[in-house]
Amino acid sequence: MTFKPFKTRPLFVFSALLGLFLFSCGVEEEHAPIQGGIPAVAMPDSHSARVAADVLGQGGNAVDAAVAAGFVLAVTHPESGNIGGGGFMTLVVPSGVGPQTHFLDYRETAPMAARKEMYLGDDGEVVDRLSFTGALAVGVPGTVAGLYEAHQRFGSLPWPDLVEPAISLASDGFIPEKKQVAMLRDSEERLSRVANFAAYFSHMEEGVLFTQPELASTLQRIADAGRDGFYKGETAEHLIGTMKTYGGLVSHEDLDTYEARWREPLTFKWSGYDVVTAPLPSSGGIALAQLFGMKDALKEAFDDVAPGSVQYVHLIAEMEKRVFADRAQHLGDPDFVTAPVSALLDADYLAARAREVNPDQITTEGDVRPGHKESKQTTHFSIVDGRGGAVSNTYTLNWEYGSGVVVEGAGFLLNDEMDDFSAKPGVRNAYGVVGDEANAIAPGKRMLSSMSPTLLMKEGEPRIVIGTPGGSTIFTSVFQVLLNSEVYGMGGQEAVDRRRFHHQLPGGTTLYFEGNSPLEAELVKGLEARGYELEKLWNNVGDVQMIKVYEDGQVEAASDRRGRGLALVGPFEE
Ligand code: DON
Repeated sequence: MTFKPFKTRPLFVFSALLGLFLFSCGVEEEHAPIQGGIPAVAMPDSHSARVAADVLGQGGNAVDAAVAAGFVLAVTHPESGNIGGGGFMTLVVPSGVGPQTHFLDYRETAPMAARKEMYLGDDGEVVDRLSFTGALAVGVPGTVAGLYEAHQRFGSLPWPDLVEPAISLASDGFIPEKKQVAMLRDSEERLSRVANFAAYFSHMEEGVLFTQPELASTLQRIADAGRDGFYKGETAEHLIGTMKTYGGLVSHEDLDTYEARWREPLTFKWSGYDVVTAPLPSSGGIALAQLFGMKDALKEAFDDVAPGSVQYVHLIAEMEKRVFADRAQHLGDPDFVTAPVSALLDADYLAARAREVNPDQITTEGDVRPGHKESKQTTHFSIVDGRGGAVSNTYTLNWEYGSGVVVEGAGFLLNDEMDDFSAKPGVRNAYGVVGDEANAIAPGKRMLSSMSPTLLMKEGEPRIVIGTPGGSTIFTSVFQVLLNSEVYGMGGQEAVDRRRFHHQLPGGTTLYFEGNSPLEAELVKGLEARGYELEKLWNNVGDVQMIKVYEDGQVEAASDRRGRGLALVGPFEE
């Protein structure tokens, strides 16, 4: 069976056209809710949405759709969709004994030649940009191993058929849209002189067919040989050659020994749901459990507090700063460090942390350790297959377009995930990244993440599938969207589109807001009166993709208006 990437199907063509119309009109405030039945997808671009819907329509399950979409995004969403990066997949799969939840960790690892102090100069200080731009920033990629492993265990359609739509999009090309090209132009400031980035990407223009022949051949090798098509043979030769040309550390041994890992998902109860989310090496699940736990403990303080008000922002910021303090101090790869996870999630501990929150005053600087600030591109997608299966997948190159290094002859970008380690434990680097020994660099170790692909289940059924990019804002965004939806009664699209803000400690008083959503004068006045310093973080914080399945089987799929995504709801035609 072969999937045609651009096939439009009558039953979802209306939602697709409506979505595109709203985008092209720049209608942002009134993004239309996409409602219907299952299956449903909420994807970061229209190509991946159509391919995922096609796979589901042709009888594939959520994992099949995720695999196909994962490869498509490596072609059409190159700033973060990838085969040269890594990620996490949280999934529920029907089984003989009922639905079962799983978590697949395909995070990058530090190459075996990596050293704890590799980003320090002779003066012992962190060298600017070394950990996030250029070949030395590259971790051993995990995406192909991850998608292959997920498919081996749970896929139902033939692997080559699932890679094929991506091959077509790479060889026949796709038409880049405005938001995509704007992001590329922004990134060129950082990347145009890095390695070979310009040779591969600077000719991308809005409305002009963009083809990637080398990438098409790489994807063909992956279609033909599975994970070996990436980690061995010609693709591996190209990757190692590129490392040699530009001074990276990834070796053949690193590629041969890379393993995606099945881990126990982190689970907790909240608001009648069983929340299933990311365990270490992501900090995301722990952070979410802490945020929800503290919020419950602060129930009275939240009474009659309107979402988005000065008091609301203050209370949330105080909780977030405590989460970041714990994150910086304790968390790292569980294969290397023993983090006190159950202590951090203990109800009494969270209640005590909540009691530290003064509803009227910012916790004074220095009382809580600084957390950290990360980058702005990753991508998330959510899929519900209508047979009890669902996938919540976040994967990334870290910064937009990763390290800026393209594998020569193979046409794909390599990540700069090494920047998620603490280059110098305990010391903030030039980009505000702070961590501790737990997240120090070591050969073969996975760097701490914030990615939080999450499922909310009731009676074994997936009811909400959610996640987002946004570096350290990922779990604060997921948290705020879930509060909007489940506590403040907003519909899925409104919950996703609502303004978000972020607090992660520095100085204890900095509150980040989104440039594209200017704060009202009264809110600014109120927050400044409290002692907050307001700082624009990025124009948009996150790109949430959420699917809500209601008790009556109706579905609302919401693709964040901030991005260029598309949500589609079923039924999808065969
Ligand atoms: O794993 C992490 O937490 C980061 N490397 C994710 C980067 C990210 O989300 C950038 N996105 N917007």
